[in-house]
Amino acid sequence: MTTARHIIALLKSHIAGDEDRFLATAMQLAAHEARQGHGKVATELRDLIDAAKSKDAAIERKVAPVPMAQPKGELAGLLAVRYPDLRLSEMVLPETISSRLQRVLLEQRQQENLRSHGLRPRRKLLLIGPPGAGKTMTAASLAGELRLPLFTVVLDGLITKFMGDTAGKLRLVFDAMNATRGVYFFDEFDAIGAKRAERNDVGEIRRVLNSFLQFLEQDDSQGLIIAATNHPELLDKALFRRFDDVVGYALPDADLVQRILKARLTAFDTRGLAWDEAAEAAVGLSPAEVVRSAENAAKSVVLAGRKRVTLAELKDAIAERREATLSS
Ligand SMILES: Nc1ncnc2c1ncn2[C@@H]1O[C@H](COP(=O)(O)OP(=O)(O)OP(=O)(O)O)[C@@H](O)[C@H]1O
Ligand SMILES: [Mg+2]
Repeated sequence: MTTARHIIALLKSHIAGDEDRFLATAMQLAAHEARQGHGKVATELRDLIDAAKSKDAAIERKVAPVPMAQPKGELAGLLAVRYPDLRLSEMVLPETISSRLQRVLLEQRQQENLRSHGLRPRRKLLLIGPPGAGKTMTAASLAGELRLPLFTVVLDGLITKFMGDTAGKLRLVFDAMNATRGVYFFDEFDAIGAKRAERNDVGEIRRVLNSFLQFLEQDDSQGLIIAATNHPELLDKALFRRFDDVVGYALPDADLVQRILKARLTAFDTRGLAWDEAAEAAVGLSPAEVVRSAENAAKSVVLAGRKRVTLAELKDAIAERREATLSS
């Protein structure tokens, strides 16, 4: 092959997102250069290839979006993909939860190491907690940290849309996990349990649950499987022990509320603000509502052409959110 041919082959593998082929072609090019007596160029190429291989994760991020940007065929109706740019540090979490999530990240990052000792990284998580507690945000920030795509499976859609062959569709999703490493997020996971209480065709839902349990148990893919629910009481007891970790989110206490408010308002002038008092007023709201209150207070300051966020504004915004949640 001529050098131009090599460059064409390199570009083709780059476009296809095929990193292995890309590096293999680069190796061929290095060999070609060596045969031409261009020893220096060949060595430089080999060094670059070694450097690229040791930077696996960085390359993965670039090429991963290409092949799986759109789940194809039947999968398209079952998985929605996005590539979150979120970090765990952008979440305000109690120490107990953040240390457990950090542990998941560590075990994921060290999975080769663990597997070489016959150990498996934690990778099946069940997140439980009220609406707006940060479950979806957790799934997104774990994906962001690991630089993996986030595939959201909406179980509710899966069940109603494909009644009759739900187990087959579930298998497709679990097959996809083996084909493409990612964070697979089963949102509204209680759909199975809730449906069981509401519906008459208990048989089908049972079968779906049983298939899920079986697939989950058998699964040994490389990414994360995260299920989230607001209604743990509806979940089948057999589910809990199939997960490596069950993480419970509660409504934040005054300290945590204060940290959430401060985090959201860091870009604003809040000098002298009585944070304690604001936080006290917001206890009982979910993190999502606390964030929203802070944003609403900030908006009224900006729109009034002022700079400083005052306690009165913040408390007003909190009271408004409180009313909205109570009346819903
Ligand atoms: N711990 C947190 N720290 C900072 N912001 C948070 C936190 N939890 C939630 N939020 C804010 O609230 C929004 C909604 O949270 P999220 O969608 O993750 O809640 P959820 O638990 O998935 O709720 P649901 O059960 O309704 O799906 C987030 O996008 C974020 O702005
Ligand atoms: Mg959610």
